[in-house]
Amino acid sequence: MCGIVAYIGTEKALPILIKGLRRLEYRGYDSAGVAILNKGSLERTRAVGRIDALASALAEKDMAGTMGIAHTRWATHGGVAEENAHPHVDCSGDIAIVHNGIIENYRELKQQLSAGHTFKSQTDTEVLAHLIEANYQGNLREAVQKALQNVRGTYGLVVMHKKEPDRIIAARLGSPLVVGVGEGEYYVASDASPMLAYTQQVIFLDDGELAEITRDDLKIVNLKDEKIIKQTEHIDWNEAEAEKQGFPHFMLKEIFDQPTVIKDAMRGRLIAPDGTAHLGGLSMTSEQMASVKRIILIACGTASYACLAGKYAFERLAGIPTEVAVASEFRYSDPIIDRQTLVFGVSQSGETADTIAALREAKRKGAYVRGIVNVVGSTIARETDGGTYIHAGPELAVASTKAYTNMVTVLLMYALQFGRSRRLTVATGERLVKALLEIPEKMQLVLKQSDVIKQLAEKYKAYSDFLYLGRGINFPVALEGSHKLKEISYIHSEAYPAGEMKHGVNALLSPEFPVVAILTSNALYDKMRSNIEEIRARRAPLIIVATEGDAAARELSDDVVSVPPTMELLEPLINTIPLQLFAYHVATILGRDVDRPRNLAKSVTVE
Ligand code: G6P
Repeated sequence: MCGIVAYIGTEKALPILIKGLRRLEYRGYDSAGVAILNKGSLERTRAVGRIDALASALAEKDMAGTMGIAHTRWATHGGVAEENAHPHVDCSGDIAIVHNGIIENYRELKQQLSAGHTFKSQTDTEVLAHLIEANYQGNLREAVQKALQNVRGTYGLVVMHKKEPDRIIAARLGSPLVVGVGEGEYYVASDASPMLAYTQQVIFLDDGELAEITRDDLKIVNLKDEKIIKQTEHIDWNEAEAEKQGFPHFMLKEIFDQPTVIKDAMRGRLIAPDGTAHLGGLSMTSEQMASVKRIILIACGTASYACLAGKYAFERLAGIPTEVAVASEFRYSDPIIDRQTLVFGVSQSGETADTIAALREAKRKGAYVRGIVNVVGSTIARETDGGTYIHAGPELAVASTKAYTNMVTVLLMYALQFGRSRRLTVATGERLVKALLEIPEKMQLVLKQSDVIKQLAEKYKAYSDFLYLGRGINFPVALEGSHKLKEISYIHSEAYPAGEMKHGVNALLSPEFPVVAILTSNALYDKMRSNIEEIRARRAPLIIVATEGDAAARELSDDVVSVPPTMELLEPLINTIPLQLFAYHVATILGRDVDRPRNLAKSVTVE
């Protein structure tokens, strides 16, 4: 994530950029910066913290310049520090760049450039500034085109050069950029919200496109300099709608972000030919990896349900006994831990008080302690001896969605990495990598059914209790689906492994107690189907999540949501999505404050 704003025109750029950054703060908020071409010099100001900190740093400065670029950061490479904030500059300080995305091969590029260039940050972005400098021969567009041909990864970026005061260059591959078209002026931003106060005429850049923008002209080409004709579109979103990319709530936007951000979690980490994954942050030698006899996954809330899905993967792929511990229990349980135990703390925020305390306890007792977190530079990221960022981007809705799927993905990749270092064959590893790479497209197929799921929500909104059932890998899915429903709709719900029904919960079944059952085509299909028959016999209303084409599921209930098939261990990545959508639609129909449910907080930093 990260937010970009740029302006070229006849007005003072600074107020436009600062106002624009405030609208983009939802995309990242750990540090911010601007570069403005002011009276012939390129002036850059950066500050750690939110946009207010940058605005205060600029308060005394007189900036009349009419061209500039700005950025609000969500750290991915390099901690939260002024030197890592954007814009980044080349050695001469003449080229300034803002970037959103991840440059996968930045280490190689940095190595290649190290002879003649001095780097001042730990970011991947700064490498781009130097790469453009190395390719610059008097034409900024050409230099950016050449530089980007050597880049692997994703970017939305805007560049300017002191010696070319009449133009800015914007380019996109995998990270959004919108160009706003004004009278004698242009805007560029990560979404349309910063420009809506000035223009509603926009051009959405597509992947592989580069825009050369002067005050009175806009030329769009590809990296080979072939011209591309684009339509200008009129948008009538208000600013808040634009921040949410047209979605009514952050939660729905974040649900729909999943096919994109899961690619960020996998990017550069899967090694298809070897059927494995490599998560460098694990920071363990092969001897240390081989010595691990037990894994403990520690988390709270949704993260703990992601861990339950991860447990299956570690045990099946790597044969390592794995436990999931709820942090608040673990920390006071006097846990039995030794030096052959590997503990992962899994947390979106990296600031959950119980998870932090539990990890400290594990560390004290000599375990290997690693983090799986979303927020770069958070306490868990800093206090663990290694780990992995899930790269879900800022998650603003209290109820976690995209962080969950990215946590499951990272846990699967760790399980694969451990599995391949132990007993897992290359053929199975290859199948898993292939299946993982197919997930984003399959997620899209589920998201397309949002309206169908909304109709189900309409039908079921008045019930006061729900039961979610699954078996095997779909039991954690049932837990997460039930958790989502209660969190945001305030309807009571619980989740059980379907095989447990006979031992108590069957007594609750009635036409007043709807059941959401996950019945996908895996090894436990027949067992699950028998459980569903028992529920049907007791006349409980049934919603079934089934694999597409499963005619038998349709015989069991009219209310079936179809999902595409995938490998069993990957099912949580797909099967959870209809349950997120169901909870979302029920809650909105009931008029709940979906993004900020009562009595809950995004980050629980107290015990
Ligand atoms: C809170 C949030 C949940 C989240 C849990 C764990 O309860 O409302 O959405 O799953 O904390 O947070 P973490 O940041 O550690 O993943």
